Amino acid sequence: MSAVVHDNNTRTIEELIEAHKPGHALDQRFYTDPEIYELELERIISRNWILAGHESELSEPGDFKVLNVARESAIIVRSESGAINAFANVCRHRGSLVCLEQKGNTRKFECPYHGWMYDTEGKLVGARSMPEGFERGDHSLHRVSVDTIFGLIFVCFSDDPLSLDGARRDLAEPMALFDFPNLKVAAHKYYDIPANWKLSIENYQECYHCATAHPEYARSHTLMVDDKRREHLQKGMREKMESCGLRDIDVSYVDIHARPGELGYAYSRTAMFDGYVTGSKDGKPIAPLLGNLKDYDGGASDFSFGGFSFLLAYSDHVVGYVFAPIDHLNSRCDIYWLVRDDAEEGKDYDVDELTWLWDITTESDKTIIVNNWKGVRSRYYRPGPFSTMEDLEQTWTEWILQELARK
Ligand code: FES
Ligand SMILES: [Fe+2]
Repeated sequence: MSAVVHDNNTRTIEELIEAHKPGHALDQRFYTDPEIYELELERIISRNWILAGHESELSEPGDFKVLNVARESAIIVRSESGAINAFANVCRHRGSLVCLEQKGNTRKFECPYHGWMYDTEGKLVGARSMPEGFERGDHSLHRVSVDTIFGLIFVCFSDDPLSLDGARRDLAEPMALFDFPNLKVAAHKYYDIPANWKLSIENYQECYHCATAHPEYARSHTLMVDDKRREHLQKGMREKMESCGLRDIDVSYVDIHARPGELGYAYSRTAMFDGYVTGSKDGKPIAPLLGNLKDYDGGASDFSFGGFSFLLAYSDHVVGYVFAPIDHLNSRCDIYWLVRDDAEEGKDYDVDELTWLWDITTESDKTIIVNNWKGVRSRYYRPGPFSTMEDLEQTWTEWILQELARK
C-alpha cells in the first residue's frame, strides 16, 4: 500500500493523469497538490466562462457588482452608455483592489489606497501628484471578458475565451421557454465551503447522495429513482408539456462532449413526483408562471454552462448555481433565485418560501462535501469506483483530466 502512495507522490502531473483509473474518482493529489491547482487556474478556471448573475441586477447606469474567482476579482458595471463592462479589480497604481463593496451604484470607483479614480468605462479620471508626463490614458483598468446570453452575465478571466456561440444558438429555444431575459433576481445567497472546489462541483453533479442527504429534495425530485420508474414519470410529464407551453428538448455538449474551442452546454427536463409542480415545500406553486407557460407540467429543467455554472428551471422560478474556487482548499457556491421580472415580492412570491428548498439542500451539501474533503485528505484515501448514478460526475472528472492534459 505504501508503495502506491509513494508512486503517486513522486509522479509528474502528466504521469498522474496517465495513471487515472477510468470509472474511478480522482487521485488525492488532484485535490491537495498546489501545483495541480496552479495548472487548473491556467488551463481550466481562467479559461472558462463563469455565471456572474443576471442583467436585471445592473439595470441602471452605474450599477455594479463584483465577482471573485480564485485570485481574480472583476468589477462588472453598467456604463453610462448602457453597455455591461467588466474590469479587473486591480488598481493601475500599485495594485490594490479598487472596489471593496460587493455591489452598489456609482459613477466613479475610487481606489481605497491612494484615491485613484476610475469611471464606468474603466478610464482613470483622477490621480493626484503624479509627475509630469504621466498619461492617465495609459492607466485604464484592464478589461475582463464579459458577455451575456439571454440576460445571463458571464465573465471569463482570459483574453482569449472559449466561444459562446454554440450555447447561444442551441439554448435559445429552451431559454425562450422560461423567458430568461425578463427574469429578475429575487434572492442571492452564497455558501463558503471549506473544501477543494472540485469536490463541491462533483457533489452537485450526482444524486447518488440525495436519498440519504436530502430528505426535503428527495420528496419531490426523481433523480435518485431507478430508470424504469423515472421513465414512467417522464412519460407523464411529456404528455403534459405541449398544453403547458413547453417542448421536450435535449441538448448535450457539455464537458468532454463540448465542441473544440466552445464552452460546453447542456439542457434537459426531468419530471418531479406526482403532486409536486415546482421546487416548493408542499409542491404547490410559489411564483407566477414564467414566460408564456400556460400551466405546470411537473418538470424541472437542468441547464449547464461549462463546468462551473448550472441552472434549474422550474415552471415558476429558476435557481442558478455557481461554484468557484477561493483557493485550493476552499470554495464557494453562489445561488441565485430568479422569478419573472413583473412578479411582486410579498404578493406574488415570498423569499423564504422561494429559497427554502435549495437553501436547506445546499447547507446539507456543504456538510457532506466537507466530510468528503476530510476523508480525501487522509493517507488512507484511495479513489473508489463510481456508481451508475454518478455518470455526470464521472464525465466531469474526465473533463478535468482532459483539460489539465491540454497544453
Ligand atoms: S494602489 Fe490604488 S491608488 Fe494606489
Ligand atoms: Fe446534494
